[in-house]
Amino acid sequence: MLEVKNLHKSFGENEVLKGIDFSVKKGEVVAILGSSGSGKTTLLRCISFLERADSGTISLDGFEKDMTELTRREVRMLRMKMGFVFQEYNLFRNKTAFQNVTEGLRIAQKIPADKARETAVNVLKKVGMLERADYYPDELSGGQKQRVAIARAIALSPKVILFDEPTSALDPELTGEVLEVMKMLASEGTTMAVVTHEMGFARDVASRVVFMDGGKITDNRAPAEFFSSPESDAARRFLRRMTSDRGI
Ligand SMILES: Nc1ncnc2c1ncn2[C@@H]1O[C@H](COP(=O)(O)OP(=O)(O)O)[C@@H](O)[C@H]1O
Ligand SMILES: [Mg+2]
Repeated sequence: MLEVKNLHKSFGENEVLKGIDFSVKKGEVVAILGSSGSGKTTLLRCISFLERADSGTISLDGFEKDMTELTRREVRMLRMKMGFVFQEYNLFRNKTAFQNVTEGLRIAQKIPADKARETAVNVLKKVGMLERADYYPDELSGGQKQRVAIARAIALSPKVILFDEPTSALDPELTGEVLEVMKMLASEGTTMAVVTHEMGFARDVASRVVFMDGGKITDNRAPAEFFSSPESDAARRFLRRMTSDRGI
């Protein structure tokens, strides 16, 4: 479904991605784990063209090309096939939950108003936000805002949804409702790549775990294997730290 090969990215002298091979197959949920600064966000930003990769190829939904040679039109076409849910909700503050969902449909996909409304009702219902459809972002909790952001992403029927720490900005009591929605999407076969520090989600919901350290992927395996016998020392140290932090 989505694949990048030999992806390199530097910021000045700082080589942040050192030849990443990363793929998400149709219906897979890939959890991307790694310490802060390991390059997880940069990976997602390169895949979504918020950053220009220095080198690498991307293939998505049957289209494949060198990432440095893409035309603007191709970038737009590829971005249309991806959904994004990032840590900061990125909702339009002057639009209601409902308008936040319909906006993308009307503008990005030029869908007629009545069809956009119908889709918005469906996706808001799905994330449990239909009752709050007319609320503005400032009137919603962080968890509710993130659910609207998810609704907005799925409304566009992307081939793959990229999540970057979707629950990291939330109070602990609000992470559950967002994880539940993501779990539901996973159970429906939604293709997703999720940067997360939620070990429970990685263990129980992900079909595969990718671990990044220093701009490289050092581990890539099924969750049960990753958690019981990580491949790299870095992953082993990371897991030890994650579990001791939580007093487990
Ligand atoms: N826009 C940028 N300009 C310069 N350096 C950056 C930029 N974005 C990220 N970096 C650097 O890239 C490295 C990886 O960052 P990031 O991808 O955010 O890691 P993670 O998401 O795993 O915490 C860090 O050293 C960070 O300082
Ligand atoms: Mg990050």
